[in-house]
Amino acid sequence: MKGNTIIAPSLLAASSDNYACAIATVEQAGAEYLHIDVMDGHFVPNLSFGPNIVAGIRPVSSLFFDVHLMITKPDKYALPFIQAGADCITVHAETSCDKDAVIRTCDENGVGFGISFKPYTHLEDYIRYFSRLKILLIMSIEPGFGGQAFMPAALERIAQAKRIREEIGASYKISVDGGVNPETAALCVEAGVDILVAGTVVFNSDDPAHMIAKLKGG
Ligand code: DX5
Ligand code: ZN
Repeated sequence: MKGNTIIAPSLLAASSDNYACAIATVEQAGAEYLHIDVMDGHFVPNLSFGPNIVAGIRPVSSLFFDVHLMITKPDKYALPFIQAGADCITVHAETSCDKDAVIRTCDENGVGFGISFKPYTHLEDYIRYFSRLKILLIMSIEPGFGGQAFMPAALERIAQAKRIREEIGASYKISVDGGVNPETAALCVEAGVDILVAGTVVFNSDDPAHMIAKLKGG
């Protein structure tokens, strides 16, 4: 049902002169998650936030902190992000990190674990982890930068993630990240997505609250 879709505004697109204000705006507008993109200049050609930023914004928000690690060594940095206040740590399937170690760290700290998939990575190669996922993140762009166009092939991948969830009786939420706007959001919801990550359309909007309502199907 459309009304149940979780909106996860992406902090990457917020104005960096006042994150507290940007977060308060989306929180009051009914967003449930805050999507925090961590980039290391190696896994992706861009740099963004470290644990210090997460720790800095944690006291000003009760949103669920959905931390998306676009970094080569997520097993090294999962714990610092958890200690800074992450509620879920999502690592990329394509990294050679020890995913079982990250799962253990998340479990020990009562934090969710997610896996993110670049547009051409096969979901079925990672099914062994699916029963342990809180979030399965489908990238609908090549990761690294906000403001890119939605890749329509993500829709079939969302549907595939939903089919696999039913087949194996898993309970992960399916999230989509990149190029989400009211039009692509509606298609993603139709395909079965649970979480819409949205950066540019929310924070570049004159009325973020109205945009969040539109993304929810209102
Ligand atoms: C890019 C990030 C996205 C990004 C989405 O690698 O993972 O979360 O912020 O931005 P928009 O919504 O502008 O495509
Ligand atoms: Zn992201």
